[in-house]
Amino acid sequence: MTNPSVAELISRSNSLGADPKNTNYAGGNTSAKGTEKDPATGEEVELLWVKGSGGDLGTLKETGLATLRLDRMRALVNVYPGVEREDEMVAAFDYCLHGKGGAAPSIDTAMHGLVDAAHVDHLHPDSGIAIATAVDGPELTTKIFGEKVVWVPWRRPGFQLGLDIAEIKKRNPQAIGCILGGHGITAWGDTSEESQQNSLWIIDTAATYIAEHSRSEPFGPALPGYAELPETERHAKAAALTPTIRSIASADKPQIGHFSDDDAVLEFLAHAEHPRLAEMGTSCPDHFLRTKVKPLVLDLPADASVEESIARLHQLHEAYRADYQAYYDRHATAESPAIRGADPAIVLIPGVGMFSFGKDKQTARVAGEFYLNAINVMRGAEGLSTYAPIDESEKFRIEYWALEEAKLQRMPAPKPLATRIALVTGAASGIGKAIAERLAEEGAVVAIADLNLAKAREAAAEIGGPDKAVGIAVDVSDEDAVIKAINETLLAFGGLDIVVNNAGLSLSKSLLDTTAKDWDLQHNVMAKGSFLVSKAAASVLIAQGLGGDVIYISSKNSVFAGPNNIAYSATKADQAHQVRLLAAELGEHQIRVNGINPDGVVQGSGIFASGWGANRAATYGIEEKDLGEFYAQRTILKREVLPRNVANAVFALVGPELSHTTGLHVPVDAGVAAAFLR
Ligand SMILES: NC(=O)c1ccc[n+]([C@@H]2O[C@H](COP(=O)([O-])OP(=O)(O)OC[C@H]3O[C@@H](n4cnc5c(N)ncnc54)[C@H](O)[C@@H]3O)[C@@H](O)[C@H]2O)c1
Ligand SMILES: [Zn+2]
Repeated sequence: MTNPSVAELISRSNSLGADPKNTNYAGGNTSAKGTEKDPATGEEVELLWVKGSGGDLGTLKETGLATLRLDRMRALVNVYPGVEREDEMVAAFDYCLHGKGGAAPSIDTAMHGLVDAAHVDHLHPDSGIAIATAVDGPELTTKIFGEKVVWVPWRRPGFQLGLDIAEIKKRNPQAIGCILGGHGITAWGDTSEESQQNSLWIIDTAATYIAEHSRSEPFGPALPGYAELPETERHAKAAALTPTIRSIASADKPQIGHFSDDDAVLEFLAHAEHPRLAEMGTSCPDHFLRTKVKPLVLDLPADASVEESIARLHQLHEAYRADYQAYYDRHATAESPAIRGADPAIVLIPGVGMFSFGKDKQTARVAGEFYLNAINVMRGAEGLSTYAPIDESEKFRIEYWALEEAKLQRMPAPKPLATRIALVTGAASGIGKAIAERLAEEGAVVAIADLNLAKAREAAAEIGGPDKAVGIAVDVSDEDAVIKAINETLLAFGGLDIVVNNAGLSLSKSLLDTTAKDWDLQHNVMAKGSFLVSKAAASVLIAQGLGGDVIYISSKNSVFAGPNNIAYSATKADQAHQVRLLAAELGEHQIRVNGINPDGVVQGSGIFASGWGANRAATYGIEEKDLGEFYAQRTILKREVLPRNVANAVFALVGPELSHTTGLHVPVDAGVAAAFLR
């Protein structure tokens, strides 16, 4: 049965973590102390349960807790070698674990164990960090909280910070918590409820004080020309700049992006002090580990043209890289880990919004959220005083901390398609859906573009929601709709790498029965549709400069000549030749173009379900339900082809193994000699 202290701890953590005003995503940690019978001795032992490394308070479960013997943890004080070697204490936590210990203890474990209170919360609230980063933070702390909250000067998290806070609690029996300079807050209580109330009191008191005492324009006066653009223009400009911004964020290694035009970002960029504040960078360690020490800010007004903005962004990127390299060189020692890349994680465009980047969509989105936290912090600090984040050298000590590096090294290897952004047309059903699923399984993020928006959204939700896939509406035969769908993909994921021309439909008719309208429909959706998609996508891929893949789902019928198929097969042959033409034309940009020739994919196929199957079955004189098996028996391998088999071929073509292949068609038909390519 769950220990009651643990149950209280989980419920308090979830409640604190549910409200973003209390702490940033996955930021902060909480703990409880209590007793339990030691199964090895039958005696009561005092334990410390503390949120382990990683994970989010809002969704914390018992499995996310580290469990330590309190006596052993506190005995570490006797072997503590001093602040110079405090990192060694992290390994010593392993010798204090109770049972298997649960989750890995985080760096903040010492603070939780050493502070003499049954319940402790360490949080990163924007309001608290605003006080923590004000140049006169110590005075403000006294002014706002009286003697109830004590100022603790900035110190990198670790054993010494735990000792400092424990000492403060001992010397200030009236205190309910402290403001950690440059960083956040810690509060405590004898009961779980008291700890939570104390945390909330500090957060809310700080917020109220800021609201009541802030000067009216914390970011300075409005900057003429920097006000936000109307939404349509904002999104159009954002999409037009996305390929360039992705290339800037991905010069060292490819990144996924997230776009936000939150009011707080637009307001920040519309006021005079934003260049100075942005340059000072973020302060809370959690923030700058994801946002990098500072963002790249376009120094042009909202109405600057796309061309001018692109040219300036390239110049600013060069300067940013040089600046970051200089920061690394200024602070790196012989023991420092190698530089991790000098591209920005946050790019700010006045009037338009913020692009944030990361190794996957969630990381990119959270980096953006953290910069929003940082904007709130700067607003609060500047409203009351002057924003004064921690020193650059301290930021470096966190960013290139051996413990941080060890955490990164422990991360699982990325999946083969990690950081790649795919657009699959007609992916709400059948083969396209299977392709979207396979690409997502391999680590890509996917835009599912289909005529049927409701089904596209359903398919995206099945894949795992907006951090993995989004559903968007497109009629591939309509050029404006195609451009709109590509722009939506750019804003959803910050770029584009893989395009799969899969949308299609099939009318099985003889020459004499095929109307001009039938012909146009088949050709508009497949030959013209994939031309339009390839064209719009290629302009993005070329601007991005990261290469890319275009895949055509053509058909066995592009080479095989059978009856009752004139419009469909002719347009499939057109698509097949587009593969060769575009492979030849786009190769200089490292864009590979390949095709797949499926055949007889009955299961899951909307084409077969909506008449084509019945028609084919009638042609062959069999029942429709037996069509898959009938096709299987016609093949050399005598196997039925499933949507998944086509999807696997797409992965093979866009994955790492066929990197030197372009202009190829892969049959996925279980072997049809009449459709052999030669
Ligand atoms: N099923 C097979 O045996 C087979 C064989 C060879 C080739 N193909 C090709 O595979 C592709 C997918 O076929 P499927 O069997 O999965 O069919 P499907 O009907 O299950 O899926 C096709 C999807 O394309 C969408 N679509 C149709 N017109 C569109 C348009 N104008 N714009 C955007 N989306 C549109 C549909 O809404 C549907 O979701 C097609 O190009 C088809 O020609 C299929
Ligand atoms: Zn912290």
